[in-house]
Amino acid sequence: MFEQVSKAPADPILGLTEAFNAEPRAEKVNLGVGVFKNEDGITPILNTVKKAEQRLLHDEATKSYLAISGFADYGYQVQRLLFGEGHNIITSQLAQTAQTPGGTGALRVAGEFMASKLGVNNIWVSNPTWANHGSVFTAAKLEVKSYRYYDKATQGLDFEGMLQDLKQVPKGDAVLLHGCCHNPTGIDPTAEQWQAIAQVAAENGFVVLFDFAYQGFAKGVVEDAEGLRILADKIPEILIASSFSKNFGLYNERVGAFTLVAKTAEVAADAFSQVKTVIRANYSNPPAHGAKVAAVILADDELRAEWLEELKAMRVHIRNLRELFVKALAEQGVKQDFSFIEQQNGMFSFTGLSKEQVATLKQDYAIYMVDSGRINVAGLSSKNMAYVCKAIAAVL
Ligand code: LMR
Repeated sequence: MFEQVSKAPADPILGLTEAFNAEPRAEKVNLGVGVFKNEDGITPILNTVKKAEQRLLHDEATKSYLAISGFADYGYQVQRLLFGEGHNIITSQLAQTAQTPGGTGALRVAGEFMASKLGVNNIWVSNPTWANHGSVFTAAKLEVKSYRYYDKATQGLDFEGMLQDLKQVPKGDAVLLHGCCHNPTGIDPTAEQWQAIAQVAAENGFVVLFDFAYQGFAKGVVEDAEGLRILADKIPEILIASSFSKNFGLYNERVGAFTLVAKTAEVAADAFSQVKTVIRANYSNPPAHGAKVAAVILADDELRAEWLEELKAMRVHIRNLRELFVKALAEQGVKQDFSFIEQQNGMFSFTGLSKEQVATLKQDYAIYMVDSGRINVAGLSSKNMAYVCKAIAAVL
């Protein structure tokens, strides 16, 4: 029977890592998957994570199941990060949070909740968006449609196009917004633009789902929540999928959260009871370790402050790489203006390289990047910078 099943194509992002690992050339460079790397090409474990793990090793008394929605203090800490301490949403208990296996788990829970409990049929995602969004939402039985986002001509945001498209989205459909560090373009709306988006969301009444996977990678944890907080001020209902893979470096621990904000505490609690049925039928209840690590750090003033410094160091490292990259391309004789790379946020840049150029970089230079021309800037380092820029100059 199994011979009826045809081979699936490799995953556009994680499949690249598999191909990269099998690549024998020593000069190989992986600019594919979005993981932070230091100057030595290593994705380090944060000091605060090690400290929290030591504490857990000592204090943890049971491995019994967590609640369906996970560890309660983790949910509170997630809300504190999203809205800020003492925000009305938290104090009035308008939000309920479930700990999920990664941001992807949160998106899947969100998708299934919207499709099966809210009767949502369509979700609108930016063009382009993270390569996995389509698969996650299709699996949740939503139809995926797209709104304009990236302007090829300016290599910036097509804000007029975006707004026009969002204005056409009817009540009852859902819209996915990237909280910050848009994946794959690195281009985020300004505060003024967020206000305009919030206005359209309020007028049309569509369901808003935030994908918030890079909080702290653009400007800071508070600054990066600006868009979310602007929308939360204007519309009474909102859904958020958080990921702590990048900002805690907890990639393989799968640490995420799904947060639902409603008009009243009672509505939030009732709706959340249905979120729990979605989770129970899916993975039953979440794994404990990674979320406990994050909660320990966030609940302890000293560890939290140290974590914010570690996060800042990652953010500054990537900002520096962006500047070095633009400079190094010019040094290799590239005439094209790549200064837009310095304006983008987070790990990713949309280089504007074509699929063919991406293929040549892989074939001739063992440089791996996503077909769309997206690069993980954190995959660059002072060691491979000249090599990568020379290769890009050659394919251009
Ligand atoms: C990425 O976009 O590279 C990351 O979000 C990792 C992933 O799962 O694709």
